[in-house]
Amino acid sequence: MKIKKVGPIGAEVLDVELSKADDLPVDDIKKAFLEFSVLIFKNQKLSPNDLRQVALIWGKPLIHPIFKGIEGYPEIIQIQNLGEKYHTNAHWHSDVTFEEEPPDATLLYSLEIPDEGGDTLFADQYLAYEELPEVLKEELKETVAIHSNLGVLMLAGGDINNLSEVEHPVFRNHPETRKKSLFVTEAFVKELKEADPKYSEETLSRLYKHSSKNDYVYRHKWTKGDLVVWDNRCVLHYAEHGYGNKKRTMHRITTSGSKPF
Ligand SMILES: [Fe+2]
Repeated sequence: MKIKKVGPIGAEVLDVELSKADDLPVDDIKKAFLEFSVLIFKNQKLSPNDLRQVALIWGKPLIHPIFKGIEGYPEIIQIQNLGEKYHTNAHWHSDVTFEEEPPDATLLYSLEIPDEGGDTLFADQYLAYEELPEVLKEELKETVAIHSNLGVLMLAGGDINNLSEVEHPVFRNHPETRKKSLFVTEAFVKELKEADPKYSEETLSRLYKHSSKNDYVYRHKWTKGDLVVWDNRCVLHYAEHGYGNKKRTMHRITTSGSKPF
């Protein structure tokens, strides 16, 4: 297995065929994942069964709390183009942070790719934390944000009785690398806990702007057969549209997480 760095975050993994489950350098893959936070495996041929098997490297595949999985594989969500106006992922976020234990990793596998548009952007939140002004790091070191699933429920036409809110620290400690990262997502964070509403709004918008600075971002241009895996504990992502009504089909799996601290 070889590794090629692709940007401020992320690396391409070469010479690995993920469908050969018995023959994978699992320890090296895990090590690279912790070092680069986003891994790209190109030219893969993965059936839903293979994908579920590969996901086990990162943890137990989860069933999405709102979106239904594909036939026979409740853990695999098919993401398909519904046209630009229905596009719901064009915002910076970490997946499912409105859960008590958001998933550690997300795997996204491309089955069908338009000839233009549809890039996914990834932003390094270790760097985002590191480069925050020291005064702000100190000011927010004990601060907690309230994350809500309201936006997703509205989009999915879900039952409002399933509305839930959870609390996560604004700065999160990665349980494996022990590094701190910025952990706020515009899509899911409602407010800072016990803060003046104006202060909460201003601080959050400052953090959102900072978290996705160009210097922290790798832009992935998809080709068919790419598997990209990212670490939701220290990475934000953004799904760009820009492919009109052309077809784009992906399979997505997330893996078990733990309570952010
Ligand atoms: Fe996402």
